Amino acid sequence: MDDFKNREWSLPQIPEPYWRDSAPLPSFPKLQENIETDVAIVGAGILGITSAYLLSKQGVKVTVIDSGKILNGTTGHTTAKITAQHGLIYDQLINSVGENQAKLYYEANSEAMNFIRNLVEEHNIDCDLSTEDAYVYTNDDKYIEKIQNEKKAYDRLGIPGEIVDNLPLPIEIKTAIVMRNQGQFHPLKYLTSLIPVITGAGGKIFEDTTAIDIEEGDHPRVLTRDGHAISSNTVIVGSHYPFYDGKGLYFTRLHPDRSYVIAVNTEKDYPGGMYINAEQPTRSLRCTSVNGSEPLVLFGGESHKTGQSHHTLEHYQALESYAAQTFGIKEIPYRWSTQDLITLDKIPYVGEITSGSPNILVGTGFAKWGMTNSTAAALLLTDLIMKKENRFYDLYTPTRFNAKSTVKSAGTFIKENADVAKHFIQGKMENTGITPDILKDDEACVVSINGKRAGAYRDTEGTLHLVDTTCTHMGCEVEWNNGERTWDCPCHGSRFSFTGEVVEGPAVEPLKKVEQE
Ligand code: FES
Repeated sequence: MDDFKNREWSLPQIPEPYWRDSAPLPSFPKLQENIETDVAIVGAGILGITSAYLLSKQGVKVTVIDSGKILNGTTGHTTAKITAQHGLIYDQLINSVGENQAKLYYEANSEAMNFIRNLVEEHNIDCDLSTEDAYVYTNDDKYIEKIQNEKKAYDRLGIPGEIVDNLPLPIEIKTAIVMRNQGQFHPLKYLTSLIPVITGAGGKIFEDTTAIDIEEGDHPRVLTRDGHAISSNTVIVGSHYPFYDGKGLYFTRLHPDRSYVIAVNTEKDYPGGMYINAEQPTRSLRCTSVNGSEPLVLFGGESHKTGQSHHTLEHYQALESYAAQTFGIKEIPYRWSTQDLITLDKIPYVGEITSGSPNILVGTGFAKWGMTNSTAAALLLTDLIMKKENRFYDLYTPTRFNAKSTVKSAGTFIKENADVAKHFIQGKMENTGITPDILKDDEACVVSINGKRAGAYRDTEGTLHLVDTTCTHMGCEVEWNNGERTWDCPCHGSRFSFTGEVVEGPAVEPLKKVEQE
């Protein structure tokens, strides 16, 4: 049960990302009619906005819709590192998809980083962009060899990088690998600067407009929950978890992971650089500056599968004690969490949603490296729409699985889906026998109402909110997330507010309300 009030609580009570609090965001109306467009883009995150920008620049009429506010999904909750160093991925990729594809992955992400840099320069965007070295380090003997293998992978692929034995951080390490001259920025300042280009070219953006289905055809129609339709020549599904599956079975080959960030005014000075460790629990560090001067260190990590950690507040507290031990804490003005989608081979799915649907495109599964991967995705999808060659097509295509990579990914596939099956059955068998009377204000738990499982949350005013815990996506049982006050699904990562509204897909329908007899 949630015990928010009785904790030693120096973290902010309400989760809010620094990015959203420090960048004024434009607002847009809800779609209230049927419309026609060249390209309908579902999802106003970095993929949707970058694609809309690129297409608008080439004279294509775009319409972007988002079920909530723009840039409020994973893009608004990232750590915003712009780097081709994605943990220890290159040794893994050489083993799973081969040297050529691993090299292409590096090049796609490096080109995406350069694209961001060029765009910032071209539009003179004030987005706190800085050049930083990126490090993966370990303080665990078992990971020394993995880092050495990663260096061998860098050498085979021609990636510039070095092994170093110490970091400019006040933490002990055994070894680390560094990729120089990567970057970081304020993602919302960057993306909001692209919006006038989109709207100036006649592009339309609608908020609070939930897409629930697509009618396929020569002119596919995106259908919204309010009963409107957007007719187009092409649809880009950029809704993070694809809201539309198109028989691509994405729910069997993506898994959602949550992770946490605290933003800290530290006692010690931050030396610059971006860092992540190789072992668990993950520790990720970077710094940003508030108003161009006051440093704010972002401590991230503590990842786990969505809906599979019962006390999510403890993840924030673990980061807090890590920050206290390393840099010291003056104040923690922000905390937030995010959700990432991981594919079977760690390479995003970008391209036609299935081989039979050339005008329904998708970009998803950017793992924890969405700034470059989604920019690479936007460049690729734009080329597809403009009928231009793109040398990363085969790397990212969702239909890429050949005999070799399928065999290598089969273990992951079976594990993920066995896990889903377990959660589908497990929750339904549970009869807690608990009634909501035991809940104090701001507490939640799974209860039995009229003999059935229900989710109960008593808000800070004492009002009880009861929901059916059956996820509206495919019927798994949601679990309470006490750090964010949401009901999270362990199967494919849908999240719902305590009143049952969809916070994050793939579910598009709210949880049913439950009435107490
Ligand atoms: Fe798929 Fe809940 S997200 S069953």
